[in-house]
Amino acid sequence: MMKAIRIHEFGGPEVLKLEEAEIPSPAMDEILVKTYASGVNLVDCGIRRGGNDILRPLLKLPLTLGWDASGVVEEVGSGVTNFKKGDAVYGLPKFPGDGSYAEYFIARATQMAIKPKSIGFNEAAGVPLAGTTAWSGVFDFGKIQTGQSLLVHGAAGGVGSIAVQIAKAKGAYVIGTASAGNLDFLRKLGADEAIDYNNQRFEDLLKDIDVVFDASPVRDNEVRLKFVQVIKEGGKLVSSQLDFPCSEAVNNALSAKNATGELVLPQNYTCLQEMASLIDEGKLQVVVSRVYPLEQAAEAHMENEAGHVRGKLVLEIRKD
Ligand SMILES: NC(=O)c1ccc[n+]([C@@H]2O[C@H](COP(=O)([O-])OP(=O)(O)OC[C@H]3O[C@@H](n4cnc5c(N)ncnc54)[C@H](OP(=O)(O)O)[C@@H]3O)[C@@H](O)[C@H]2O)c1
Repeated sequence: MMKAIRIHEFGGPEVLKLEEAEIPSPAMDEILVKTYASGVNLVDCGIRRGGNDILRPLLKLPLTLGWDASGVVEEVGSGVTNFKKGDAVYGLPKFPGDGSYAEYFIARATQMAIKPKSIGFNEAAGVPLAGTTAWSGVFDFGKIQTGQSLLVHGAAGGVGSIAVQIAKAKGAYVIGTASAGNLDFLRKLGADEAIDYNNQRFEDLLKDIDVVFDASPVRDNEVRLKFVQVIKEGGKLVSSQLDFPCSEAVNNALSAKNATGELVLPQNYTCLQEMASLIDEGKLQVVVSRVYPLEQAAEAHMENEAGHVRGKLVLEIRKD
């Protein structure tokens, strides 16, 4: 048996219960990982509340949350050739299914990679979900090229802080928005410009931006219209928000500029290896603002849902 944080009903942070659960077994294409740390993400909080129309049919109770993790391979499925017992790994636990707020989790071998060597398990657990989303937004959907301009809205969060750095590593000109207390943080991450979204109007300061990446948790069609205002003719708006695009006005504004708008959903996981290399080369810094013990998952959810996490929150499950 193992310790796990599970939910038996949907609701507030109080539905998260620490209990004993069976250690799962990997199928042919899966690995069983001994968890060292689990990232905490807004999607965990959304699933805890019952998910949305797309997610809810996939959720079976009781459920262990957490789809972002690091650990050591304990067992490999009979068809897995790229990992062996004892490998230190990071990646995404299998979804739908039980996640990584637990002492062991199952992952598809294709959604895991060898952990970056230069950082600990806690830092590594903060990378996979935010990192694959950032990579997908910047490169797969944004198709950012050297010298192009990228505006990252909500640049101090998990997705945003990685998006800023990987775009800089590619040679893009990167502008980030954040609240006043995070502007220096954005500059330290490498942002060429940092804009205070409360006290400055980015729509008056910027124009002809190649790609806008909305990595904020705020779903606001008025702000989306401002993004379109600063995008160049034929440019791109990419959004991490699952309700995107929900407004005809936003779609019409994009069409009038021959610009595209797309929802970012990570499609391949080979970028986990590329991010591990960038981390080990010192080109991608992983920022974990707070580490909670497993039993304080509810407190971690409350902090995340308050909307102003710098970098990542992580649950430590085993000591490094
Ligand atoms: N599509 C996917 O596969 C996928 C995967 C992961 C995440 N997501 C989504 O991506 C979004 C970001 O996730 P995350 O994990 O990076 O969130 P996060 O770590 O909680 O970061 C949120 C950041 O947003 C900033 N923020 C808060 N209010 C803002 C506002 N009014 N305007 C602009 N920025 C604001 C905060 O910065 P300040 O403190 O400076 O305000 C904070 O650093 C969420 O909507 C999440 O659900 C999608």
